[in-house]
Amino acid sequence: MEPDELDEVYRIEAESFDQPYPRWYLDLLYGLSGGEYFLVSQGSEGRITGYIIGIPLSSGACHIASIAVEKRCRRRGVGTALLQSLVEVCSSRGYSSFVLEVEAGNYPAQSLYARSSFKPVMIVPDYYGEGRHAVVMALLGERPCCLDG
Ligand SMILES: CC(C)(COP(=O)(O)OP(=O)(O)OC[C@H]1O[C@@H](n2cnc3c(N)ncnc32)[C@H](O)[C@@H]1OP(=O)(O)O)[C@@H](O)C(=O)NCCC(=O)NCCS
Repeated sequence: MEPDELDEVYRIEAESFDQPYPRWYLDLLYGLSGGEYFLVSQGSEGRITGYIIGIPLSSGACHIASIAVEKRCRRRGVGTALLQSLVEVCSSRGYSSFVLEVEAGNYPAQSLYARSSFKPVMIVPDYYGEGRHAVVMALLGERPCCLDG
């Protein structure tokens, strides 16, 4: 992912969420990801079709801050490929545990994560607003205790 591709990422973010991250926040996440954990997928014509943002934590886990696929490209394995690519890149650098929040009613995303062996670990009430709870899901690697920190 190159910084000049962030406008394209924002286009997908804006069409994917009812409360999208502001454009400036994507810049911040790009910095926090160190660039190398901010991955994009490209269609055959080079257009960006999806992205995933991993934020490495000092505890040795990786927080997945966001993932989205362009609406017209969904259900073709792009989300799975992004998630598995991030897990591979992070694992090769020593980040073997992953954690994320997903809205309780977002069954497509929960199914995507479950198919990659993520397990629900807790509910955070009202995380996305009143009555909109988050499910925290995690994929625990060799150092599962690292999520405590
Ligand atoms: C969640 C999202 C990233 C999935 O991307 P995708 O490219 O469509 O995912 P995949 O094609 O790899 O699907 C993998 C599995 O996820 C599940 N899934 C994906 N979309 C689904 C849907 N609309 N309904 C039910 N299950 C779904 C299925 O189990 C699917 O496997 P299958 O197609 O073999 O049945 C995409 O729907 C998206 O961008 N949603 C909006 C943003 C969002 O909610 N992000 C997650 C924030 S926590």
